[in-house]
Amino acid sequence: MNDDAYRQKQMEAYPLNKLARLLEPGPLVLVTTGHQDNSNIMTMGFHMMVQHDPPLIAFVMGPWDFSHKALVETGTCVIAIPGADLMEKAVDIGNCSGAETDKFKRFNLDPLDAEIVGAPLIKQCLANIECRVVDTQLSEKYNLFVVEAVRAWVNRSRKEQRIFHHKGDGTFSLDGRTIDMKARMTKWKEITA
Ligand SMILES: Cc1cc2nc3c(=O)[nH]c(=O)nc-3n(C[C@H](O)[C@H](O)[C@H](O)COP(=O)(O)O)c2cc1C
Repeated sequence: MNDDAYRQKQMEAYPLNKLARLLEPGPLVLVTTGHQDNSNIMTMGFHMMVQHDPPLIAFVMGPWDFSHKALVETGTCVIAIPGADLMEKAVDIGNCSGAETDKFKRFNLDPLDAEIVGAPLIKQCLANIECRVVDTQLSEKYNLFVVEAVRAWVNRSRKEQRIFHHKGDGTFSLDGRTIDMKARMTKWKEITA
């Protein structure tokens, strides 16, 4: 089929280098690394759940990020999920480097001691997931790390509970209405319980 034939079917060719805009992976997250008095935060859009039990998460963190060195050295991090009230800060945190600035101070965020890992939780986030790197086989080729979540925390008392998603081009969508399809998830009862 040529391009015209696809257009008649209301399908338009889409540039492969913009696929991230179609497959945006989940909530925009913040990742902390380092230790309480020497810690850093970066913004991350490229992450995915890999396995339920033990819970494994994969993400892309490149050597262009100052956080990368701390992740490799300590083998731990915290994935923090910001609410919509932190949207501007989350974008700004991804547009400056911990090599030059103390981002906890600059963005007025409070580090809290994690229970298991050295990297701090972020008090103002909706959730914080303490993680340990468990697989780096693809880290040289794709900057891809697989981490195991070893402890997780949620803050249900925050008024703003909406998460937000990066659409791949500097625009964001806000979490909307939740639609309950649990009754149809007949093959996957264990995840709806
Ligand atoms: C919306 C957004 C999403 C981002 N997603 C990623 C990502 O998935 N992986 C990555 O390595 N960098 C990502 N970045 C870039 C880092 O957050 C950015 O390089 C940051 O300055 C790194 O901070 P650091 O140098 O203090 O570690 C993203 C930035 C923004 C603004």
